Amino acid sequence: MISLQNLVKKFGSFAAVDGVSLDVTPGEIHGFLGPNGAGKTTTMRMIAGLLKPDSGRILVNGHDLATAPEAAKASLGFIPDRPFIYEKLTAGEFLRFHAGLYGLDGDVSDRVREMLEVFELGRWEDELVESFSHGMKQRLVMSAAFLHKPQAIVVDEPMVGLDPRGARLIKQIFRRMSERGVAILMSTHTLEVAQEMSDRISIIVKGRIIARGTVDELRRMAGSQDDRLTPVFLKLTGGGGLQEIDEV
Ligand SMILES: Nc1ncnc2c1ncn2[C@@H]1O[C@H](COP(=O)(O)OP(=O)(O)O)[C@@H](O)[C@H]1O
Ligand SMILES: [Mg+2]
Repeated sequence: MISLQNLVKKFGSFAAVDGVSLDVTPGEIHGFLGPNGAGKTTTMRMIAGLLKPDSGRILVNGHDLATAPEAAKASLGFIPDRPFIYEKLTAGEFLRFHAGLYGLDGDVSDRVREMLEVFELGRWEDELVESFSHGMKQRLVMSAAFLHKPQAIVVDEPMVGLDPRGARLIKQIFRRMSERGVAILMSTHTLEVAQEMSDRISIIVKGRIIARGTVDELRRMAGSQDDRLTPVFLKLTGGGGLQEIDEV
């Protein structure tokens, strides 16, 4: 599970993340939905331990990232939105390199092969990453994040730039992982993606969570008197385009 308690991150005097609290339970796919600039990536980089929060608490699988960073990081798989992959490695080399980073010892070949199969890259184990399409690179990065069997996954905008087949595969894999009890926090700026994949959704605007619930619950809220949610939700459903949400 992932638990965020009152997280704050400022850049200068600007609070990019302004008191975010959120729980992702085991087996849940939690959509982290908000317009560009809302603070999704900043939040996720803090969970991954790449940015230090100004205040607040992050627990991964019960481990406090501030006091037990190793245990917290060992429980987490992080899939960034713009991952770096060294292109002169083969897929197999890339995964074995990752296994080393996570301190997986012994013979990792079976696990590497298993992950390549899961992500439909089995045939490509010995091919250089530079020959891969965008979707294949993305699947390779994901297979690396699942390599050490994390109980929590943080994935930043996974559907951007995927073809329908690639997107379908990713959806199936996330669903399968959640069925095994993995807690998944997935950011997106598209309501459609959040709606299709999430058990619950938290909507973030300007660094703050403004609403949370299942798709049905959010719909009910947007249709009722919630004057903060209604305009955001309408725009996320395609009303006015994403830029406008920044002005809400
Ligand atoms: N390193 C940084 N320095 C200054 N401002 C930043 C930095 N990173 C992000 N921001 C700002 O913080 C806000 C949130 O950004 P981000 O977390 O990337 O949003 P999202 O992922 O929801 O699109 C934006 O206004 C962005 O410009
Ligand atoms: Mg982002």
